[in-house]
Amino acid sequence: MNILAIESSCDETAVAVVRDGRTILSSVIASSADMHAIYGGVVPEIASRQHVEAISPLADEALRQAGISKGEIDAVAVTYAPGLIGALLVGVSFAKSLAFGLGVPLIPVHHVRGHIAANYLAHADLEPPFLCLCVSGGTTALVHVKDYTQFEVMGGTRDDAAGECFDKIARVLGLGYPGGGPMDRLAQGGNDQAFAFPKAHMEGNPLDMSFSGLKTAVLNTVHNAQQKGEALHLPDLAASFAAAVSDALVPRTMEADRRLGYHKIAVAGGVAANSRIRADLERACQAAGARLWLPPLSLCGDNAAMIGCQAYYEYQAGHTAGWALNAKASLDIAKQWSE
Ligand code: KG4
Repeated sequence: MNILAIESSCDETAVAVVRDGRTILSSVIASSADMHAIYGGVVPEIASRQHVEAISPLADEALRQAGISKGEIDAVAVTYAPGLIGALLVGVSFAKSLAFGLGVPLIPVHHVRGHIAANYLAHADLEPPFLCLCVSGGTTALVHVKDYTQFEVMGGTRDDAAGECFDKIARVLGLGYPGGGPMDRLAQGGNDQAFAFPKAHMEGNPLDMSFSGLKTAVLNTVHNAQQKGEALHLPDLAASFAAAVSDALVPRTMEADRRLGYHKIAVAGGVAANSRIRADLERACQAAGARLWLPPLSLCGDNAAMIGCQAYYEYQAGHTAGWALNAKASLDIAKQWSE
């Protein structure tokens, strides 16, 4: 089954062709990140306009690289939630018209389900059930992947997503947008003990997290130094911040794994590219005797191949949409598709 998949939830327009869920025939991405960089974050209107310009030529390019014709597409999949509503609507409208024109099923896909599915593309042996740490610019959650289309959120951030904090701190440091990669590189060789940033202790669900206090503490450190005219050692600051984020994520991930008892852990989303978090998880999993699946860096960020992969399993579960499909800015990952 050849699925043409579309992703446009944020600032990447992406189209891919995926065969039988796990084989990528093509995957093309056009990012408008450069246009947002001057504003220090994504400008939704600019993102939507860029999707409109990019999507049609990208779909042609994805077919060309896959070496198939439109007539060989068996279904069209699209990210319909969560994300920037104007950006999502471009992908949803394009997918609807393409599926309608070709007379093939339309498969709606939750963006974070797609991020989790990126692991299936990279690791042929990974099958549910397992635990997935989902960490991106918009999401930070520990998700129990019960089956390909059955999910339960065990805990998550009560305020900022981890990626959002990387981006905001990077902006104040003048590192550009998106800031996670530059922050990661800056942290190399820095002393992770140089700054003692606060740890959030959560009332209620101990698997919940909070990153806004940590973000404010780092920003205050930067602003105080600027006001006093003092120079901060930025690699130390970046390394201490990455360590604090990892300290919030890794022990909770291991606790969630203990509760589930599968000892199978996957990681998903753009922040899964972070070298400190990857290294800490590898160490913790080794100590706990748990298997760890990390997506390759090329599949950590937004792409459409992951949407095509998840769509295959949504299709098997009967989750196809009619022509009234609409985009949703927010949606619980556990909620099943219904018209
Ligand atoms: O998954 P993604 O591409 O988009 C969302 O669905 O949100 O994630 C983007 C996020 C951004 O916040 C970016 O700064 C962060 O992933 N990111 C990183 C790294 N590479 C990208 N954060 C920390 N370390 C990295 N190496």
